[in-house]
Amino acid sequence: MRDHLVAYFEAHHLLVESDALQLLLKVPQPLAVSRQLVERALSDHPFVTREMVEAVILSTDLGRSQAIRSAEMSSALLRTPRLAASLPFELLREGFSAVVPGQQPLAAYGSLFASRFEQLSKMLRGRPELSGLRPVSELGTAEGSAAVIGMIRDVRQTPEKHHLILTLEDDGGAVEVLVLKDSAPAQVPYLDDEVVGLRLAMPKERGRLPRVTHVLRPDVPSGRERKRTESPVRVIFLSDLHIGSRSFLADEWGRMTDFLHGKGPRPELAREIQHVVIAGDLVDGIGIYPNQERDLAIGDVFEQYEELGRRLRELPERLHVVVVPGNHDAVCPAEPQPALPREIRSALPENVHSLGNPSTFALHSVVIEAYHGRSFDDLIPAIPGASYARPTEVMKRMLAMRHLAPMYGGRTPLAPLARDGMVIDPGPDILVTGHAHTFGVDQYRGVLLLNASTWQAETEYQRMRNVSPVPARAAVVNLADLTLEALDFSGRESEVGGAAA
Ligand SMILES: [Fe+2]
Ligand SMILES: [Fe+2]
Repeated sequence: MRDHLVAYFEAHHLLVESDALQLLLKVPQPLAVSRQLVERALSDHPFVTREMVEAVILSTDLGRSQAIRSAEMSSALLRTPRLAASLPFELLREGFSAVVPGQQPLAAYGSLFASRFEQLSKMLRGRPELSGLRPVSELGTAEGSAAVIGMIRDVRQTPEKHHLILTLEDDGGAVEVLVLKDSAPAQVPYLDDEVVGLRLAMPKERGRLPRVTHVLRPDVPSGRERKRTESPVRVIFLSDLHIGSRSFLADEWGRMTDFLHGKGPRPELAREIQHVVIAGDLVDGIGIYPNQERDLAIGDVFEQYEELGRRLRELPERLHVVVVPGNHDAVCPAEPQPALPREIRSALPENVHSLGNPSTFALHSVVIEAYHGRSFDDLIPAIPGASYARPTEVMKRMLAMRHLAPMYGGRTPLAPLARDGMVIDPGPDILVTGHAHTFGVDQYRGVLLLNASTWQAETEYQRMRNVSPVPARAAVVNLADLTLEALDFSGRESEVGGAAA
Protein backbone atom coordinates (compact mmCIF):
# COMPACT_ATOMS: atom_id res chain seq x y z
CA MET A 1 0.00 0.00 0.00
CA ARG A 2 2.86 2.39 0.89
CA ASP A 3 4.45 2.05 -2.57
CA HIS A 4 1.09 2.35 -4.23
CA LEU A 5 0.31 5.65 -2.46
CA VAL A 6 3.73 7.12 -3.26
CA ALA A 7 3.33 6.16 -6.92
CA TYR A 8 -0.18 7.60 -7.00
CA PHE A 9 1.01 10.99 -5.72
CA GLU A 10 4.01 10.91 -8.05
CA ALA A 11 1.70 10.37 -10.99
CA HIS A 12 -0.02 13.61 -9.98
CA HIS A 13 3.29 15.46 -9.54
CA LEU A 14 3.05 15.44 -5.75
CA LEU A 15 5.51 14.37 -3.06
CA VAL A 16 4.05 12.89 0.08
CA GLU A 17 5.91 13.69 3.31
CA SER A 18 6.69 10.70 5.50
CA ASP A 19 4.46 11.62 8.48
CA ALA A 20 1.62 12.33 6.05
CA LEU A 21 2.17 8.89 4.57
CA GLN A 22 2.16 7.25 8.00
CA LEU A 23 -1.18 8.86 8.82
CA LEU A 24 -2.62 7.88 5.45
CA LEU A 25 -1.66 4.26 6.05
CA LYS A 26 -3.71 4.26 9.26
CA VAL A 27 -7.00 5.62 7.89
CA PRO A 28 -9.67 3.12 6.81
CA GLN A 29 -9.82 4.43 3.22
CA PRO A 30 -6.30 5.55 2.28
CA LEU A 31 -6.91 5.56 -1.47
CA ALA A 32 -10.10 7.59 -1.23
CA VAL A 33 -8.43 10.16 1.05
CA SER A 34 -5.43 10.33 -1.33
CA ARG A 35 -7.74 11.07 -4.21
CA GLN A 36 -9.25 13.96 -2.24
CA LEU A 37 -5.74 15.28 -1.56
CA VAL A 38 -4.86 15.20 -5.25
CA GLU A 39 -8.04 17.04 -6.11
CA ARG A 40 -7.24 19.81 -3.65
CA ALA A 41 -3.54 20.10 -4.51
CA LEU A 42 -2.34 23.55 -5.53
CA SER A 43 -0.10 23.71 -8.59
CA ASP A 44 2.50 25.83 -6.72
CA HIS A 45 2.73 23.50 -3.72
CA PRO A 46 3.95 20.02 -4.74
CA PHE A 47 3.95 18.54 -1.19
CA VAL A 48 1.36 16.55 0.74
CA THR A 49 1.74 17.30 4.45
CA ARG A 50 0.28 15.64 7.53
CA GLU A 51 -1.86 18.75 8.11
CA MET A 52 -3.37 18.38 4.65
CA VAL A 53 -4.23 14.73 5.35
CA GLU A 54 -5.81 15.67 8.68
CA ALA A 55 -7.79 18.42 7.00
CA VAL A 56 -9.31 15.95 4.56
CA ILE A 57 -10.04 13.30 7.18
CA LEU A 58 -11.33 15.44 10.03
CA SER A 59 -12.49 18.91 9.27
CA THR A 60 -14.16 19.05 5.88
CA ASP A 61 -17.50 18.14 4.45
CA LEU A 62 -15.77 16.01 1.86
CA GLY A 63 -13.89 14.09 4.53
CA ARG A 64 -17.01 13.66 6.61
CA SER A 65 -19.08 12.55 3.65
CA GLN A 66 -16.42 9.97 2.80
CA ALA A 67 -16.52 8.66 6.35
CA ILE A 68 -20.31 8.60 6.39
CA ARG A 69 -20.40 7.02 2.98
CA SER A 70 -18.06 4.21 4.01
CA ALA A 71 -20.06 3.63 7.19
CA GLU A 72 -23.24 3.45 5.12
CA MET A 73 -21.55 1.07 2.75
CA SER A 74 -20.68 -1.45 5.39
CA SER A 75 -23.96 -1.22 7.29
CA ALA A 76 -26.73 -0.54 4.77
CA LEU A 77 -25.41 -2.15 1.63
CA LEU A 78 -23.96 -5.20 3.18
CA ARG A 79 -26.40 -6.52 5.67
CA THR A 80 -24.28 -9.53 6.56
CA PRO A 81 -22.30 -8.21 9.55
CA ARG A 82 -19.66 -10.94 9.34
CA LEU A 83 -18.88 -10.01 5.75
CA ALA A 84 -19.05 -6.24 6.26
CA ALA A 85 -16.68 -6.27 9.22
CA SER A 86 -13.90 -8.10 7.45
CA LEU A 87 -14.43 -6.82 3.93
CA PRO A 88 -11.30 -5.50 2.24
CA PHE A 89 -13.45 -3.21 0.07
CA GLU A 90 -12.91 0.50 -0.43
CA LEU A 91 -15.08 2.69 -2.64
CA LEU A 92 -12.86 5.23 -4.38
CA ARG A 93 -15.19 6.94 -6.76
CA GLU A 94 -18.69 6.56 -8.07
CA GLY A 95 -19.11 8.44 -11.33
CA PHE A 96 -22.58 9.58 -10.31
CA SER A 97 -22.97 12.73 -8.22
CA ALA A 98 -25.94 15.01 -7.62
CA VAL A 99 -27.12 17.48 -10.30
CA VAL A 100 -26.29 21.09 -9.39
CA PRO A 101 -29.61 22.51 -8.15
CA GLY A 102 -31.20 25.25 -10.18
CA GLN A 103 -28.81 25.08 -13.13
CA GLN A 104 -30.23 25.23 -16.63
CA PRO A 105 -29.25 22.17 -18.71
CA LEU A 106 -26.93 24.13 -20.96
CA ALA A 107 -25.12 25.75 -18.05
CA ALA A 108 -24.88 22.32 -16.42
CA TYR A 109 -23.21 20.90 -19.54
CA GLY A 110 -20.83 23.88 -19.38
CA SER A 111 -19.90 22.82 -15.83
CA LEU A 112 -19.50 19.20 -16.96
CA PHE A 113 -17.01 20.11 -19.69
CA ALA A 114 -15.21 22.60 -17.44
CA SER A 115 -14.84 19.82 -14.86
CA ARG A 116 -13.53 17.42 -17.49
CA PHE A 117 -11.02 19.97 -18.73
CA GLU A 118 -9.85 20.72 -15.21
CA GLN A 119 -9.41 17.08 -14.20
CA LEU A 120 -7.66 15.97 -17.38
CA SER A 121 -5.51 19.07 -17.94
CA LYS A 122 -4.15 18.59 -14.41
CA MET A 123 -2.83 15.18 -15.50
CA LEU A 124 -1.04 16.76 -18.49
CA ARG A 125 0.38 19.88 -16.85
CA GLY A 126 4.03 19.65 -15.88
CA ARG A 127 4.97 17.06 -18.50
CA PRO A 128 8.38 17.90 -20.01
CA GLU A 129 7.02 17.47 -23.55
CA LEU A 130 4.69 20.41 -22.87
CA SER A 131 7.32 22.91 -21.69
CA GLY A 132 6.42 26.51 -22.49
CA LEU A 133 2.75 25.69 -21.90
CA ARG A 134 0.39 28.63 -22.36
CA PRO A 135 -3.35 29.26 -22.52
CA VAL A 136 -4.93 29.23 -25.98
CA SER A 137 -5.67 32.98 -25.72
CA GLU A 138 -1.94 33.73 -25.41
CA LEU A 139 -0.85 31.57 -28.32
CA GLY A 140 -0.83 34.53 -30.74
CA THR A 141 2.31 35.97 -29.13
CA ALA A 142 4.29 32.70 -29.26
CA GLU A 143 7.20 32.27 -31.64
CA GLY A 144 9.03 29.10 -32.65
CA SER A 145 7.61 26.33 -30.49
CA ALA A 146 4.73 26.42 -27.98
CA ALA A 147 2.49 24.00 -26.11
CA VAL A 148 -1.23 24.05 -25.26
CA ILE A 149 -3.75 21.79 -23.54
CA GLY A 150 -7.28 21.77 -24.85
CA MET A 151 -10.44 19.86 -25.60
CA ILE A 152 -11.01 18.76 -29.20
CA ARG A 153 -14.11 20.58 -30.42
CA ASP A 154 -13.97 19.69 -34.09
CA VAL A 155 -11.88 17.65 -36.50
CA ARG A 156 -12.08 18.26 -40.22
CA GLN A 157 -10.02 17.43 -43.30
CA THR A 158 -8.61 19.89 -45.81
CA PRO A 159 -10.37 19.29 -49.14
CA GLU A 160 -7.43 18.35 -51.36
CA LYS A 161 -4.55 17.05 -49.30
CA HIS A 162 -6.58 15.53 -46.45
CA HIS A 163 -4.55 17.12 -43.69
CA LEU A 164 -6.45 17.55 -40.42
CA ILE A 165 -7.58 20.82 -38.91
CA LEU A 166 -8.40 20.53 -35.21
CA THR A 167 -10.37 23.10 -33.28
CA LEU A 168 -8.97 23.08 -29.78
CA GLU A 169 -10.60 24.85 -26.85
CA ASP A 170 -9.54 25.64 -23.30
CA ASP A 171 -11.39 27.63 -20.63
CA GLY A 172 -10.38 30.95 -22.23
CA GLY A 173 -10.45 30.53 -26.00
CA ALA A 174 -10.33 28.39 -29.13
CA VAL A 175 -7.71 27.88 -31.83
CA GLU A 176 -7.38 25.96 -35.08
CA VAL A 177 -4.24 23.89 -35.57
CA LEU A 178 -2.96 21.81 -38.48
CA VAL A 179 -1.96 18.13 -38.39
CA LEU A 180 -0.11 17.04 -41.52
CA LYS A 181 -1.59 13.86 -42.99
CA ASP A 182 1.40 11.54 -42.73
CA SER A 183 3.01 13.03 -39.63
CA ALA A 184 3.31 11.13 -36.32
CA PRO A 185 0.57 13.22 -34.63
CA ALA A 186 -1.90 12.05 -37.32
CA GLN A 187 -1.44 8.35 -36.48
CA VAL A 188 -3.95 8.10 -33.63
CA PRO A 189 -7.38 9.51 -34.52
CA TYR A 190 -8.63 12.52 -32.55
CA LEU A 191 -12.02 12.10 -30.91
CA ASP A 192 -14.51 14.86 -30.24
CA ASP A 193 -14.37 16.19 -26.67
CA GLU A 194 -11.17 14.39 -25.60
CA VAL A 195 -8.50 16.47 -23.84
CA VAL A 196 -5.00 16.48 -25.35
CA GLY A 197 -1.71 18.32 -24.93
CA LEU A 198 -0.17 19.56 -28.17
CA ARG A 199 3.34 20.79 -28.98
CA LEU A 200 3.08 23.29 -31.82
CA ALA A 201 5.40 24.82 -34.39
CA MET A 202 4.20 28.40 -34.67
CA PRO A 203 3.83 29.80 -38.21
CA LYS A 204 6.34 32.35 -39.48
CA GLU A 205 3.81 33.97 -41.80
CA ARG A 206 0.54 35.58 -40.81
CA GLY A 207 -2.63 33.71 -41.76
CA ARG A 208 -1.11 30.23 -41.43
CA LEU A 209 -2.09 27.75 -38.75
CA PRO A 210 0.17 26.45 -35.97
CA ARG A 211 1.35 22.93 -36.88
CA VAL A 212 1.13 20.05 -34.40
CA THR A 213 4.54 18.38 -33.90
CA HIS A 214 3.72 16.19 -30.89
CA VAL A 215 0.53 14.99 -29.20
CA LEU A 216 0.27 13.88 -25.61
CA ARG A 217 -2.72 12.16 -24.01
CA PRO A 218 -3.27 12.03 -20.23
CA ASP A 219 -2.70 8.22 -20.22
CA VAL A 220 -1.86 5.88 -17.37
CA PRO A 221 1.76 5.79 -16.22
CA SER A 222 3.72 2.90 -17.74
CA GLY A 223 5.73 0.36 -15.82
CA ARG A 224 3.85 0.66 -12.55
CA GLU A 225 4.41 -1.78 -9.72
CA ARG A 226 1.46 -4.07 -9.41
CA LYS A 227 -0.28 -4.43 -6.10
CA ARG A 228 -0.21 -7.89 -4.60
CA THR A 229 -2.08 -9.68 -1.91
CA GLU A 230 -0.09 -11.96 0.38
CA SER A 231 -1.99 -15.13 -0.48
CA PRO A 232 -4.20 -15.99 -3.46
CA VAL A 233 -7.52 -14.11 -3.43
CA ARG A 234 -9.57 -14.52 -6.56
CA VAL A 235 -12.30 -12.47 -8.19
CA ILE A 236 -14.66 -13.79 -10.85
CA PHE A 237 -15.77 -11.20 -13.42
CA LEU A 238 -19.17 -11.54 -15.12
CA SER A 239 -21.37 -9.22 -17.13
CA ASP A 240 -24.58 -8.84 -19.12
CA LEU A 241 -26.81 -11.41 -17.42
CA HIS A 242 -29.95 -10.05 -19.13
CA ILE A 243 -32.23 -11.83 -16.65
CA GLY A 244 -35.78 -11.83 -18.04
CA SER A 245 -34.67 -12.40 -21.62
CA ARG A 246 -35.84 -15.57 -23.37
CA SER A 247 -32.21 -15.96 -24.40
CA PHE A 248 -30.83 -16.09 -20.82
CA LEU A 249 -28.46 -19.07 -20.76
CA ALA A 250 -29.82 -20.94 -17.73
CA ASP A 251 -27.86 -24.20 -18.31
CA GLU A 252 -24.57 -22.36 -18.74
CA TRP A 253 -25.32 -20.23 -15.65
CA GLY A 254 -25.99 -23.46 -13.76
CA ARG A 255 -22.59 -24.84 -14.79
CA MET A 256 -20.95 -21.67 -13.52
CA THR A 257 -22.74 -21.76 -10.16
CA ASP A 258 -21.87 -25.47 -9.79
CA PHE A 259 -18.24 -24.56 -10.41
CA LEU A 260 -18.39 -21.85 -7.70
CA HIS A 261 -19.84 -24.42 -5.28
CA GLY A 262 -16.80 -26.61 -5.94
CA LYS A 263 -18.80 -29.17 -7.97
CA GLY A 264 -16.86 -28.57 -11.19
CA PRO A 265 -13.46 -29.83 -12.30
CA ARG A 266 -11.50 -27.06 -10.53
CA PRO A 267 -12.71 -27.04 -6.92
CA GLU A 268 -9.38 -25.72 -5.63
CA LEU A 269 -9.74 -22.66 -7.89
CA ALA A 270 -13.36 -22.09 -6.89
CA ARG A 271 -12.42 -22.20 -3.21
CA GLU A 272 -10.07 -19.22 -3.60
CA ILE A 273 -12.76 -17.01 -5.17
CA GLN A 274 -13.99 -14.42 -2.66
CA HIS A 275 -15.54 -11.73 -4.86
CA VAL A 276 -17.82 -11.48 -7.89
CA VAL A 277 -17.92 -8.33 -10.05
CA ILE A 278 -20.82 -7.95 -12.52
CA ALA A 279 -20.42 -5.15 -15.09
CA GLY A 280 -24.04 -4.24 -15.88
CA ASP A 281 -27.09 -5.27 -17.91
CA LEU A 282 -28.14 -7.29 -14.90
CA VAL A 283 -31.63 -7.67 -16.36
CA ASP A 284 -32.98 -7.30 -19.90
CA GLY A 285 -35.30 -4.42 -18.93
CA ILE A 286 -38.30 -3.32 -20.94
CA GLY A 287 -38.61 -0.98 -23.92
CA ILE A 288 -34.85 -0.84 -24.46
CA TYR A 289 -35.02 -1.58 -28.21
CA PRO A 290 -37.85 -1.91 -30.75
CA ASN A 291 -40.13 -4.95 -30.26
CA GLN A 292 -38.10 -6.16 -27.27
CA GLU A 293 -41.25 -7.69 -25.75
CA ARG A 294 -40.96 -10.57 -28.25
CA ASP A 295 -37.60 -11.47 -26.67
CA LEU A 296 -38.78 -11.33 -23.05
CA ALA A 297 -39.62 -14.30 -20.82
CA ILE A 298 -40.46 -11.91 -17.94
CA GLY A 299 -42.33 -8.81 -19.09
CA ASP A 300 -42.27 -6.90 -15.78
CA VAL A 301 -39.09 -5.17 -14.76
CA PHE A 302 -39.55 -5.69 -10.97
CA GLU A 303 -40.13 -9.39 -11.57
CA GLN A 304 -36.92 -9.42 -13.60
CA TYR A 305 -35.03 -8.09 -10.57
CA GLU A 306 -36.74 -10.65 -8.31
CA GLU A 307 -35.50 -13.34 -10.67
CA LEU A 308 -32.04 -11.71 -10.57
CA GLY A 309 -32.19 -11.99 -6.78
CA ARG A 310 -32.99 -15.72 -7.10
CA ARG A 311 -30.13 -16.23 -9.56
CA LEU A 312 -27.65 -14.40 -7.32
CA ARG A 313 -28.79 -16.57 -4.39
CA GLU A 314 -27.60 -19.56 -6.43
CA LEU A 315 -24.03 -18.28 -5.89
CA PRO A 316 -22.32 -19.39 -2.67
CA GLU A 317 -23.42 -17.14 0.18
CA ARG A 318 -19.82 -16.54 1.30
CA LEU A 319 -19.08 -14.51 -1.87
CA HIS A 320 -19.06 -10.71 -1.88
CA VAL A 321 -20.83 -9.52 -5.05
CA VAL A 322 -20.35 -6.06 -6.59
CA VAL A 323 -22.85 -5.00 -9.27
CA VAL A 324 -23.09 -1.90 -11.45
CA PRO A 325 -26.03 -1.15 -13.77
CA GLY A 326 -25.93 -1.05 -17.58
CA ASN A 327 -28.11 0.47 -20.27
CA HIS A 328 -30.74 -2.30 -19.85
CA ASP A 329 -31.13 -1.69 -16.10
CA ALA A 330 -33.90 0.27 -14.41
CA VAL A 331 -31.93 3.42 -13.63
CA CYS A 332 -31.59 6.65 -15.60
CA PRO A 333 -29.69 5.76 -18.79
CA ALA A 334 -27.62 8.98 -18.78
CA GLU A 335 -24.06 8.29 -17.66
CA PRO A 336 -22.73 8.24 -15.03
CA GLN A 337 -25.67 6.14 -13.82
CA PRO A 338 -26.67 5.96 -10.15
CA ALA A 339 -26.78 2.66 -8.27
CA LEU A 340 -29.98 0.59 -8.38
CA PRO A 341 -32.79 2.20 -6.34
CA ARG A 342 -33.61 0.89 -2.87
CA GLU A 343 -36.83 -0.91 -3.96
CA ILE A 344 -34.80 -2.97 -6.40
CA ARG A 345 -31.85 -3.52 -4.07
CA SER A 346 -34.18 -5.09 -1.55
CA ALA A 347 -34.87 -7.90 -4.05
CA LEU A 348 -31.17 -8.80 -4.09
CA PRO A 349 -29.37 -10.95 -1.51
CA GLU A 350 -27.55 -9.35 1.41
CA ASN A 351 -24.06 -10.04 0.09
CA VAL A 352 -24.62 -7.80 -2.96
CA HIS A 353 -22.93 -4.41 -3.08
CA SER A 354 -24.77 -2.17 -5.54
CA LEU A 355 -22.71 0.72 -7.01
CA GLY A 356 -23.21 3.30 -9.76
CA ASN A 357 -21.91 2.92 -13.31
CA PRO A 358 -19.00 3.59 -13.57
CA SER A 359 -17.40 2.96 -10.17
CA THR A 360 -13.84 2.67 -8.97
CA PHE A 361 -13.22 0.53 -5.92
CA ALA A 362 -10.40 -1.38 -4.32
CA LEU A 363 -10.51 -5.04 -3.34
CA HIS A 364 -7.56 -5.90 -1.11
CA SER A 365 -6.03 -2.59 -2.36
CA VAL A 366 -6.19 -3.70 -6.00
CA VAL A 367 -7.97 -0.87 -7.82
CA ILE A 368 -10.82 -1.94 -10.11
CA GLU A 369 -12.66 0.36 -12.50
CA ALA A 370 -16.00 -1.17 -13.52
CA TYR A 371 -17.84 0.43 -16.44
CA HIS A 372 -20.66 -1.17 -18.38
CA GLY A 373 -19.36 0.07 -21.75
CA ARG A 374 -22.22 1.87 -23.46
CA SER A 375 -19.71 4.29 -25.02
CA PHE A 376 -18.43 1.43 -27.24
CA ASP A 377 -21.44 2.36 -29.41
CA ASP A 378 -19.84 5.76 -30.10
CA LEU A 379 -16.14 4.92 -29.89
CA ILE A 380 -16.16 1.84 -32.15
CA PRO A 381 -17.55 3.70 -35.20
CA ALA A 382 -15.20 6.63 -34.52
CA ILE A 383 -11.96 4.62 -34.27
CA PRO A 384 -10.83 3.05 -37.56
CA GLY A 385 -10.32 -0.71 -37.17
CA ALA A 386 -12.21 -0.92 -33.85
CA SER A 387 -14.90 -3.59 -33.48
CA TYR A 388 -17.21 -5.22 -30.95
CA ALA A 389 -15.17 -8.39 -31.41
CA ARG A 390 -12.13 -6.69 -29.83
CA PRO A 391 -13.44 -4.20 -27.29
CA THR A 392 -10.14 -4.27 -25.36
CA GLU A 393 -8.57 -2.18 -28.16
CA VAL A 394 -11.10 0.54 -27.40
CA MET A 395 -10.46 0.14 -23.67
CA LYS A 396 -6.78 0.95 -24.30
CA ARG A 397 -7.89 4.16 -25.89
CA MET A 398 -10.13 4.92 -22.89
CA LEU A 399 -7.11 4.60 -20.60
CA ALA A 400 -4.99 6.80 -22.87
CA MET A 401 -7.71 9.47 -22.79
CA ARG A 402 -8.32 8.77 -19.07
CA HIS A 403 -12.00 8.99 -19.99
CA LEU A 404 -14.69 6.36 -20.48
CA ALA A 405 -17.13 8.23 -22.71
CA PRO A 406 -15.77 11.49 -24.12
CA MET A 407 -18.03 11.94 -27.14
CA TYR A 408 -21.05 14.13 -26.44
CA GLY A 409 -24.17 13.97 -28.59
CA GLY A 410 -23.88 10.38 -29.81
CA ARG A 411 -25.56 7.22 -28.56
CA THR A 412 -24.24 7.46 -25.01
CA PRO A 413 -26.38 9.94 -23.10
CA LEU A 414 -24.24 11.98 -20.70
CA ALA A 415 -25.78 13.40 -17.54
CA PRO A 416 -25.38 17.17 -17.01
CA LEU A 417 -23.53 16.89 -13.72
CA ALA A 418 -21.24 19.48 -12.17
CA ARG A 419 -18.42 16.98 -12.00
CA ASP A 420 -17.40 14.76 -14.90
CA GLY A 421 -17.71 11.31 -13.36
CA MET A 422 -16.50 9.51 -16.48
CA VAL A 423 -12.87 10.59 -15.96
CA ILE A 424 -10.68 7.60 -15.04
CA ASP A 425 -8.97 8.58 -11.78
CA PRO A 426 -7.20 6.96 -10.08
CA GLY A 427 -5.68 4.81 -12.82
CA PRO A 428 -6.90 1.25 -12.11
CA ASP A 429 -5.10 -2.08 -11.91
CA ILE A 430 -8.07 -3.75 -13.63
CA LEU A 431 -10.54 -2.16 -16.06
CA VAL A 432 -13.63 -4.30 -16.62
CA THR A 433 -16.44 -3.65 -19.10
CA GLY A 434 -19.34 -5.58 -20.61
CA HIS A 435 -21.95 -4.42 -23.16
CA ALA A 436 -20.08 -5.85 -26.18
CA HIS A 437 -21.21 -9.40 -25.24
CA THR A 438 -17.78 -10.71 -26.22
CA PHE A 439 -14.94 -12.03 -24.12
CA GLY A 440 -11.67 -10.14 -24.24
CA VAL A 441 -8.52 -10.12 -22.15
CA ASP A 442 -5.56 -7.83 -22.72
CA GLN A 443 -3.00 -5.66 -20.99
CA TYR A 444 -2.19 -1.99 -21.36
CA ARG A 445 0.68 -0.35 -19.47
CA GLY A 446 0.30 -2.81 -16.60
CA VAL A 447 -3.51 -2.51 -16.46
CA LEU A 448 -5.46 -5.75 -16.94
CA LEU A 449 -8.31 -5.23 -19.42
CA LEU A 450 -11.37 -7.48 -19.34
CA ASN A 451 -14.53 -7.57 -21.39
CA ALA A 452 -16.57 -9.94 -19.34
CA SER A 453 -18.78 -11.90 -21.81
CA THR A 454 -22.55 -12.37 -21.36
CA TRP A 455 -25.12 -14.91 -20.18
CA GLN A 456 -27.48 -14.18 -23.06
CA ALA A 457 -27.50 -16.04 -26.38
CA GLU A 458 -27.75 -14.10 -29.61
CA THR A 459 -31.04 -12.21 -29.96
CA GLU A 460 -32.84 -11.28 -33.15
CA TYR A 461 -31.92 -7.63 -32.53
CA GLN A 462 -28.22 -8.45 -32.25
CA ARG A 463 -28.38 -10.55 -35.42
CA MET A 464 -29.80 -7.49 -37.15
CA ARG A 465 -26.96 -5.35 -35.84
CA ASN A 466 -24.30 -7.92 -36.72
CA VAL A 467 -23.18 -8.58 -33.17
CA SER A 468 -21.86 -12.10 -32.56
CA PRO A 469 -21.81 -12.80 -28.84
CA VAL A 470 -19.21 -14.92 -27.06
CA PRO A 471 -21.36 -16.02 -24.09
CA ALA A 472 -20.86 -17.99 -20.89
CA ARG A 473 -17.21 -17.12 -20.31
CA ALA A 474 -15.78 -15.84 -17.07
CA ALA A 475 -12.42 -14.43 -16.06
CA VAL A 476 -11.04 -15.45 -12.69
CA VAL A 477 -8.26 -13.09 -11.59
CA ASN A 478 -5.84 -13.78 -8.78
CA LEU A 479 -5.32 -10.51 -6.89
CA ALA A 480 -1.98 -11.81 -5.63
CA ASP A 481 -0.34 -11.38 -9.04
CA LEU A 482 -3.14 -10.39 -11.47
CA THR A 483 -2.81 -13.68 -13.34
CA LEU A 484 -5.99 -14.80 -14.98
CA GLU A 485 -7.85 -17.99 -15.84
CA ALA A 486 -10.40 -17.80 -18.63
CA LEU A 487 -13.26 -20.22 -17.98
CA ASP A 488 -15.68 -21.48 -20.60
CA PHE A 489 -19.10 -22.64 -19.38
CA SER A 490 -20.67 -22.78 -22.83
CA GLY A 491 -20.40 -26.57 -22.88
CA ARG A 492 -18.94 -26.49 -26.38
CA GLU A 493 -15.46 -27.45 -25.21
CA SER A 494 -14.26 -28.79 -21.91
CA GLU A 495 -16.41 -27.58 -19.06
CA VAL A 496 -13.72 -25.38 -17.66
CA GLY A 497 -10.88 -24.48 -19.98
CA GLY A 498 -7.95 -22.57 -18.60
CA ALA A 499 -5.68 -19.91 -20.00
CA ALA A 500 -3.19 -17.65 -18.30
CA ALA A 501 -2.56 -14.06 -19.29
FE1 LIG B 1 -25.85 -6.31 -22.69
FE1 LIG C 1 -25.35 -3.01 -22.58
